[in-house]
Amino acid sequence: MHELRETRKIEHIRQSLALEDGPLSNGFADVHLIHNALPELKVEDIDLSLTFLGKKLEKPILINAITGGHPAVTEINRKLANLAAQKKIAIAVGSQAAGLRNADVWSSYSVVRQMNPDGVVIANINADTPLRGALKAIDVIEADAIQVHLNGAQELAMREGDRDFTGWAGMIKELIRHSPVPVIVKEVGFGISKEVALRLWDMGVTYLDVGGAGGTNFVAIELRRQEVEDHSFEAWGIPTAITLGEVMYTLRQNSSDREDRHVIATGGIRNGWEGAKALAMGADLIGLAGPLLKRLDQEQAMEEFIENFQQDLTRALLLTGSKKLKELRQQPCVYSGFVKTWFEQRGIILSS
Ligand code: FNR
Repeated sequence: MHELRETRKIEHIRQSLALEDGPLSNGFADVHLIHNALPELKVEDIDLSLTFLGKKLEKPILINAITGGHPAVTEINRKLANLAAQKKIAIAVGSQAAGLRNADVWSSYSVVRQMNPDGVVIANINADTPLRGALKAIDVIEADAIQVHLNGAQELAMREGDRDFTGWAGMIKELIRHSPVPVIVKEVGFGISKEVALRLWDMGVTYLDVGGAGGTNFVAIELRRQEVEDHSFEAWGIPTAITLGEVMYTLRQNSSDREDRHVIATGGIRNGWEGAKALAMGADLIGLAGPLLKRLDQEQAMEEFIENFQQDLTRALLLTGSKKLKELRQQPCVYSGFVKTWFEQRGIILSS
């Protein structure tokens, strides 16, 4: 059974390399920033740095959870960890379930901390992991925070996946009570609605990663892996720009909590312009997985991707007249098309 799970992990990586994003769009084409023709700023004025989990990041980027748990993936984590260290950005390891089953594979995760002794490194577990396992996952990589992933859609798409999704809320509450580090609840590509966000904030969660649709699609990965012909399940999920609006709306309803609550935008964000829109909508950090995995064979291409992302973020800040990320967050966004209709029907008002 272990062997089957670990083989699946490698197949996921292979399938995700072969697959395009989608079929849903991430929604950011319907989010618009407003050009400032008189910004009175220099490129070198623009400051993309921030403090996240008590540490300084040079850019608001997280290399989000991908892998770990098999000797064959240690090299992937080494490369991703090296990129995080070089670019002074945050990184999360992939699900640590395999390490909790077999301690021999812990080194495939701990390499990420070894290469980032001072950086932000985040643990990752399933929502049904017992507390002892969660604390072990934190300890092994001296994590600055722990992600709990919610992946019901992915499990349902897997022939051998879980069918019982009860008990997750209780586990999250228990973890918040006992964890020495903040708990980040994340979706893996199907988004978080405003109703679920409210429940999570009420439970005491202070970090949410919206994990919206439009990028890497785990249902599509599973269906292709199983060679299923009917792909209709692939269009499930809340696009990233929309789930971000849903989650931000729950924060803005109670603005006194804003400073203590943090939102990460992940899911199909593929360039700094989309990243800037997500930051203007209120995200603290942009999570990236697929685009880095796809460039893993050429470390230079991974670095260039981050450099281009940074350059476009800088341009977007300058052209909205924002010197810092906090100022970008004050900028208004205009919503069009499907995203506007969605927000209207859901009663979501997002004035900055
Ligand atoms: C992932 N992702 C993921 N998430 C998680 O919480 N635990 C995990 O173990 C994994 N594993 C994983 C493997 C592979 C091959 C990929 C591509 C992704 C999900 C990831 O962190 C992210 O939420 C999604 O991939 C959406 O972001 P992108 O890829 O669209 O930028």
